[in-house]
Amino acid sequence: MSPFELTVSEGFENPKGFYDATPTFSWKLPENIKSQTAYSIVAASSPDLLPNNPDVWKSGKIISDHSIFIKYEGPNLVSRQKVYWQVKYWDSQEQPSEWSEIANFELGLLKNNDWKAHWIGINTAKDSIKGVREFLMHRPQYLRKVFELTTDITSARLYITAKGVFDVHLNGNDVSNDVIPPGWTPYDKRIETITYDVTDLIESGQNTLAVELASGWHSGRISRGKALYDNLASPKILCQLELESIDGSKKIIVSDKSWKGTTNGPIRLAGIYDGEVYDANLEMPDWTKTSFNDKVWKSVETEAIMDSVKLEPKRHNTVKQKTIIDDVTIVSVDNNSAIFNLGQNMVGVPKVKVPMKKGDTLKIRFSEMLLSDGTFYTTNYRSARSTDYYIAAKDGIAEYTPKFTFHGFQFVELRGFDQNAKPSSDWVQGLVQHSNFKVNGTFTSSHKKLNQLQSNITWGLRDNFFDVPTDCPQRDERLGWTGDAQVISPTAMFNYNTHAFWTAWLQSMRETQSEHENGLIPFIVPDVLQNNNASSGWGDACVIIPWDIYNITGDVTVLEDSYESAKKWVGYYESKVKKKPYIPIMHSFGDWLQPYPSKSLKKGNRGDTPKELINTAYFAHSAHLISKIAGVLGKTDDEKEYKNLYKAVANAFENEFFDENARFKQDKQTQTSYLLGIYFDLFKPESKIKAQNHLLEEIKKADYHLGTGFLGTPILPKVLDDMGEIDLMYKILFKETYPSWFYSINQGATTMWERWNSYNKEEGYNPQSMNSLNHYAYGAIGQWMYERIAGIAPLEPGYKSIRIAPIPGGPLTSAEASYHSPYGKISSAWKKENGSFYLNVTVPPNTTAIINIPGNTEKEIKVNGGNIKDYQNIRMMDSQEGSFEVLVRPGTYSFKSNLN
Ligand code: BGC
Repeated sequence: MSPFELTVSEGFENPKGFYDATPTFSWKLPENIKSQTAYSIVAASSPDLLPNNPDVWKSGKIISDHSIFIKYEGPNLVSRQKVYWQVKYWDSQEQPSEWSEIANFELGLLKNNDWKAHWIGINTAKDSIKGVREFLMHRPQYLRKVFELTTDITSARLYITAKGVFDVHLNGNDVSNDVIPPGWTPYDKRIETITYDVTDLIESGQNTLAVELASGWHSGRISRGKALYDNLASPKILCQLELESIDGSKKIIVSDKSWKGTTNGPIRLAGIYDGEVYDANLEMPDWTKTSFNDKVWKSVETEAIMDSVKLEPKRHNTVKQKTIIDDVTIVSVDNNSAIFNLGQNMVGVPKVKVPMKKGDTLKIRFSEMLLSDGTFYTTNYRSARSTDYYIAAKDGIAEYTPKFTFHGFQFVELRGFDQNAKPSSDWVQGLVQHSNFKVNGTFTSSHKKLNQLQSNITWGLRDNFFDVPTDCPQRDERLGWTGDAQVISPTAMFNYNTHAFWTAWLQSMRETQSEHENGLIPFIVPDVLQNNNASSGWGDACVIIPWDIYNITGDVTVLEDSYESAKKWVGYYESKVKKKPYIPIMHSFGDWLQPYPSKSLKKGNRGDTPKELINTAYFAHSAHLISKIAGVLGKTDDEKEYKNLYKAVANAFENEFFDENARFKQDKQTQTSYLLGIYFDLFKPESKIKAQNHLLEEIKKADYHLGTGFLGTPILPKVLDDMGEIDLMYKILFKETYPSWFYSINQGATTMWERWNSYNKEEGYNPQSMNSLNHYAYGAIGQWMYERIAGIAPLEPGYKSIRIAPIPGGPLTSAEASYHSPYGKISSAWKKENGSFYLNVTVPPNTTAIINIPGNTEKEIKVNGGNIKDYQNIRMMDSQEGSFEVLVRPGTYSFKSNLN
């Protein structure tokens, strides 16, 4: 059987407009194949040349069991180049397989000088409107170009991007269903370009390209600081249509001064924070078709491409509409307004179908939750107006979906519909939008609230993966906060194939760092705050995320790409060390939003674990990770140097912040002070045990509740798990009272909250306006749920070798998870019944797994109903008390042990 699921780089299947001229190749082996002993890859410019006459590259027969992220080692690949490739493997008997099906990838325009087009647009700065906080709001633009073709076309590629966000049409057809492309990058460094295959939309004779353009992140209000990007700059598009004719001739249509434009279209205003205004009276039927008369439209202004801003193909998927929520209920109706509940805190836009009167305005408002009087709680939106308006052009049903904005909401209020109409729940649907990635993993259990927690985690992830990982989707922030990202990446990677999403954002992070000589990584990426400051625990995302992505995927390129940036960041720590050696004196957000802080309100947000302790802990940890990364990359000198640095900082950490009994030298003890020292391995062995005991005392003092914020929470389950305190971790996880994961669920949460106490039914909302009900950081608990409760964890990068070691606990009687690793599906499903423990596992080809099965090792353990000894693919290992350990090869196994 031949290899299958061929992908390039971060899991792309036959991509067009591909970004990577030095791709890697990955494939999967058929289920019955235990392992691979060799492989061969061939690549050609045409499928007809494969497999025997590859004219681009051939690896030859490589003795190796590697089948993921194999580097291309052929001649340089160039823009527009289409490459076809195939692979075959040799199995454990060294028998060759058939060649795989033929896969391909087509590169986009890789360089600025590939572009013959100009940036074009209407100068909307001069008639822009003063919006919230004096921010100028640009009128959305409608741009079009008619062109003539005299020959039949065999292939047509549209390369397009914007300083702003766009929607493009060809001959009246939508070219794509991308949501507000191209996306958000550090626009002064790099703007992503999108490639569309429009061959089927081209007509012989006259054709029309038409583009809607709005401010987006480039020219709109984003963040509370003065927007980095020239807010006054009018949005512009850049597009290039490349056509190949039947006679082989080529033709290029570019954005230039021959285009025409208007701002008198139906979308009057559109901003990410503040919403959209749509006036149906200004609709221009058929403006995207050749027949439309644009005589009165303006000529566009043009601007040359700057070499300082790189134009590169987008390296991850665009945002798409992924699901529709139409199970909607009406909460209340009051004269001429109605409130609709979508039952889930989501991100995206509403689709409304409402009876209207000509000239009336429909006002559409949003809220995540209601106040006790049933009205909207929008204090936590802060200055984000997040309101859409639709002005009806005629009597009758009006259908409207906002295009150039997005909202975070569970409730929708409509006001201004036909007063004679009786509101109906089908007036509103929720169009859920997020970056386009596939489900990678699943988790479920016998416990309703634990399953709700999983649902809140996954909704929180989808809701905040809107081209960049945002802190929240509803208020006047929605920014790429680095600290939140570093704690959630493993949980995100388990649930969704976000490999490319993360590596794309890491490129933006490195580009943003490059502005700072001293290696500073700003709070957020893209950095629209520009406050020239960094925080420990946040900036470390540039080291921690690459390390996590490498261990989860086995893709070493993320380490190679991030290595220098990581070293610069540790250099930043070194530059912040003043009098006390190895103790950086710098800003930190601390253990953000730790519960029961000693100071109240805003002053308490940073918790009670001192920033110097946190600075030193992360300085040591990042140095340690760089030493490990250097080891993987074969940089032995660096490996030694950073290992020594880590040890020196660790030593300083213990001496500075802990006494001889390893007790934290501060009256106000915190769980996180111990968690950081223990998890980052900063204590001498003899101190570590003492520190672990102090931690257990602190947890006991908190009545077995967590006492951690953004930094301590993701580490708590890992530390207790390493200490073998599994039952204690279950106790903390299944707590119902504040602070706990189930507390917000008991108060009605359908996503993760920014605060442990964002709301409760008795007292209402947290008084601070910084109170997002959709922040994913505390969802980092997911990793422990998958790796310990269900029991699936990598032992080697990419899950080449797997540990399946579920440990039941709490009130659970069953749990299961599945995960699509680079080698294939892994699954673990257990249940306890009548004193027996049942465990079903799937181990993918070309991997091995060590499985720990809880049970009385004095009694017999069965596999697939039979005796383990009869199974060649299973080797019994030394069991510890209370659990069996076996080493298995690929396959599916059902174990049954005796718990008594
Ligand atoms: C953001 C958080 C961030 C924090 C740091 C908040 O405003 O929402 O995501 O981690 O600031 O202080």
